Amino acid sequence: MSKGMMSIGASIRGLGYNASAWRHPDVDPTVQESISFYAELAKKAEAAKLDFVFLADNLAATSMDDRPKGALGRGHDNITLEPLTTMAAIAVLTSRIGLVATCSTSYQQPFHVARLYASLDHITGGRAAWNVVPSYRQTEGANFGLSEPISHSERYERAEEFVTVVQGLWNSWDRDAFVYDKKSGIFFDPTKVRALHHRGKFFQVEGPLTATRSPQGRPAIFQAGESGPGVELAAKFADAVYTVPLEKAASIQQRQLVRQTAAKHGRSEESIKVIPGIQPVVAATKKEVEEKLELLRSIADPIKEMGRLIIQFKDISKYDLEDTLPASFVESAVTSSARPIAEKAVASKWTVRRLCQEMALGQQRIVAGTPEEIAADLTEWFSSGACDGFNVSPSHVPGGLFEFLDQVVPILQERGVFRAEYAGRTLREHLGVARDAS
Ligand SMILES: Cc1cc2nc3c(=O)[nH]c(=O)nc-3n(C[C@H](O)[C@H](O)[C@H](O)COP(=O)(O)O)c2cc1C
Repeated sequence: MSKGMMSIGASIRGLGYNASAWRHPDVDPTVQESISFYAELAKKAEAAKLDFVFLADNLAATSMDDRPKGALGRGHDNITLEPLTTMAAIAVLTSRIGLVATCSTSYQQPFHVARLYASLDHITGGRAAWNVVPSYRQTEGANFGLSEPISHSERYERAEEFVTVVQGLWNSWDRDAFVYDKKSGIFFDPTKVRALHHRGKFFQVEGPLTATRSPQGRPAIFQAGESGPGVELAAKFADAVYTVPLEKAASIQQRQLVRQTAAKHGRSEESIKVIPGIQPVVAATKKEVEEKLELLRSIADPIKEMGRLIIQFKDISKYDLEDTLPASFVESAVTSSARPIAEKAVASKWTVRRLCQEMALGQQRIVAGTPEEIAADLTEWFSSGACDGFNVSPSHVPGGLFEFLDQVVPILQERGVFRAEYAGRTLREHLGVARDAS
């Protein structure tokens, strides 16, 4: 990646990040298990020279309990293709774009995960990345024999050991370990392969891995935690960190914290990229922008939204839809990403219904305007040190993504703040994060 250029990625999961995206008039609600649909999104993002496409994931159908009454049956986000399987298919239909797939450290095993991502990195010629998530939902735990979710601290302790083991396994084979000498019968040099003999609190893993060192040396690592343990995990292992800031000043602070914490762990500050999420709403005029925002609010389904809000705000169900949220509501935020939303709801004197509409829009910063206005906003954030790029979480697909790729990206390329052509072949080269030298 050339100096002074931003990284741009796109989240292509489901039907978009509007919680009721399936009700958008331009959305086909039947495509969530269509590989050709997702391949189309990835190919279009590659044509726009994006760094990566990303698939988030949850290990449970999101809302199968009918809370509040009538919520069941209203959600489209209960079905989705498994990320690594999907990316392996997209891999052979693309050639340059990075493929970031999510995998849980709470409910997976390190040997499996190391093998899956090393294989994807071989299949893609060095374009694979692992979005490390210490899954936290109770509904996910219930699919792995747990009645209670794992505590926050244990999730991160396990995640730290998990990633350490995976990286150890990726390190099993030296690049020049293989001899292939048919005459002598020597296939590989035993001095150039290592078993791991890992004995830890959560895992005992012998190794070596059954996959050789992959094209990137090791697949890239993405992560998205904002709590203390979340930032520590990122600073130790991540090449890129997803964030969800709503304000530029907060993003500048967050980026400095992540970079300084990485330096504390002996890494260069340049080796870790901070990538905030954005939801672009593009239109030619202010009036059309407002109309698009109103449409995105109007498809919101408060009954369904309450089902989601219950997960992020522990006592939301004691309010009626038309109640204005009191100051004490801020303390009911469950995750770090929910708190700024609660603060905004209270400060803006929102009712529960308005919170539902705003939450349905998605948690990423909404960047609404003409293509020039959006390009100017993103350039301003980037040049002010608030981020190293952006992760586009479209309101709905394909429209919400394609409008950004067709109308905003060309302006960023003209301005010289985003690549017009791929210089590198691997995701690490796109992001400008070093390859594991060994
Ligand atoms: C852009 C982004 C993508 C995320 N993707 C996932 C995901 O795919 N699956 C998941 O369970 N959590 C996902 N998360 C949640 C984070 O992994 C993490 O649990 C959350 O940010 C809370 O972090 P904390 O424990 O440090 O507060 C994502 C968060 C962000 C901001």
